[in-house]
Order: sequence, then structure tokens, then C-alpha cells
Amino acid sequence: MVSTATQIAGFNFDNCLMNAAGVYCMTKEELLEIEASAAGSFVTKTGTLEARQGNPEPRYAPTTLGSINSMGLPNMGYDYYLDFVLDLEKEPNSKNHFISVVGLSPADTHTILKTLEASAYQGLVELNLSCPNVPGKPQIAYDFETTENLLTEIFAYYTKPLGVKLPPYFDIVHFDQAAAVFNKFPLAFVNSINSIGNGLVINEETVIIKPKNGFGGIGGNYIKPTALANVHAFYQRLNPSIQIIGTGGVKSGRDAFEHILCGASMVQIGTALQEEGPEIFTRITEELKAIMSEKGYESLEDFRGKLQYLD
Ligand code: SIN
Repeated sequence: MVSTATQIAGFNFDNCLMNAAGVYCMTKEELLEIEASAAGSFVTKTGTLEARQGNPEPRYAPTTLGSINSMGLPNMGYDYYLDFVLDLEKEPNSKNHFISVVGLSPADTHTILKTLEASAYQGLVELNLSCPNVPGKPQIAYDFETTENLLTEIFAYYTKPLGVKLPPYFDIVHFDQAAAVFNKFPLAFVNSINSIGNGLVINEETVIIKPKNGFGGIGGNYIKPTALANVHAFYQRLNPSIQIIGTGGVKSGRDAFEHILCGASMVQIGTALQEEGPEIFTRITEELKAIMSEKGYESLEDFRGKLQYLD
């Protein structure tokens, strides 16, 4: 009997596949579609202290090898997602979920997390340290000192399961430095990777999205090798108590299999979900199970992290 069940920080999920924050998760209606699908969980759109319109449209475009977006964190406000998830999890057969949040300033982040700490919500929270698309706001996790200071302040009061959504790193020394920071904290998970920030896609002689004169986060096929490298680099470096969620370039069961082989305990789907819709979870789950079955693997633990190297 092949199972794609998994767990993160003691929370059980019937399936390791779910959406990536930003895709199919802005409204209750979209989140309920993911809830009703074969996905094992959902993560909400990253909620900020106040609701945001985000950047001007067009701000997402599919490309031949993936996508580019500069959404700019449009969202309903973190309390919309908190209230919704609290209500949903009262249902007897509710899945476990992730609430994604970040403030536009450290003060906002603390206000949000202190409210979550005081709330009835006991579930998983993903702190987004990696959005490349808010003009004037850098991707926090590229600044290790700021990240360490922020996490130090957060863990002085936050006691519930918390993980961080990371940007891609591209240098071995940066993997070492980032992991050294994360290993200082009782993080439940890291999620690698957000989009590759500030790419440029051109059609004829013109950019294809409006914000920031066309600069935007790159997702899809282009980013799978970078995503796999980040998942595996953190799998090799992080304390075993810090689990890894793999995100980036997943559009088939084989892609999900590779993320798990690199060390992911859960796998998120962004661009391909945007293009194919929530039915994708049925297809990719079947493909992943077929690969596992062919190889004689019954659970993710049979192959998670067991990437082989050449002699
Ligand atoms: C966005 O809203 O700009 C995308 C989300 C992200 O990259 O974190």
C-alpha cells in the first residue's frame, strides 16, 4: 500500500502535496477549492497587517518555461485568513493548514505574530521572508543579520510552530551562513524556494508584466534545479528538527519525487497549479504513487533525503 502521507512538526497530512503561498489562496473560495482537492493541506496567501491591493495589472504571466509575477502581496489582511482557518478547523474532517504572514515592517510582523500567539490558533505559521515584489522592500532573508535579529525578537514571545519561506540562495557559503542562522532557532520548517526574484521576460520588444517595468519573480520549469539545490543544501545543514518544504518547478510526480529525494517532507506547487487548477493534485499524486510503487517504496520515509551521489 503506497502512501504519500507526511507530517510537519507533529501535524499529520494525508498527502505531501499542497499549494504554494500566492497561488489559489487569496480568498476563502479559492482556499475551499484546495481543501476539497486531493491536496494534503493549503497555505494561505501571505497576510499583512492590513489588506493590500498589490501591484498594478498585468502582474502575472505564464511563459513557455514557467511564469513571472510581481503581485506585490495583494491580500485580505492576515486576520481574514486567521478567522477563516480557525472556523474551518472546527469542522470534524478538516485538514491541518498553514497561515502565511509577514509585516511590511518588523513592527507589523511582531503585531501579527503576537496576535497569532494570543489567538486560539495552534497550527502552523509560515513567515514569508522572501517576497521580491513589494517596491522598496528587500527580500528579508538575503540579509542574514536582519533575519537573525528578527527571529531573535520573534522567538522571545512566539511559542507555536513557525517556519520561514526562503528566497533561493546561489552560493555554498550563503547556504552555510543561512543554515547557521536558522539552526539557532526552534523553527518547525524552512520552505525553499520562493520565486527567483527580479527576472525579466520580454515579448517582441516589451516586458510582459506592468509593475517595476517588468521585473518579477520567476517560477516554473526554470527554477527546479535551484529549488532542488536549496532543499538539499538545507537538508544537509539544518538541525534534523527543522523540516523542509520543497517548492519550485513541480509539475509532475517525478518533480515531487525529486524534491522528496532531496529531503523535502512536503511539496508545494505554484505555477503549475495556477495553470492547471486544483485537479493537478490528483494527477501528481497518482504519478508520484506510480513512481513509488515501481521502486518498491511504500512511504516517503523510504526515500526522503536519500539522494545518491556519484563516486
Ligand atoms: C507576491 O505577492 O508578490 C508574491 C508572493 C511572494 O513572492 O512572496
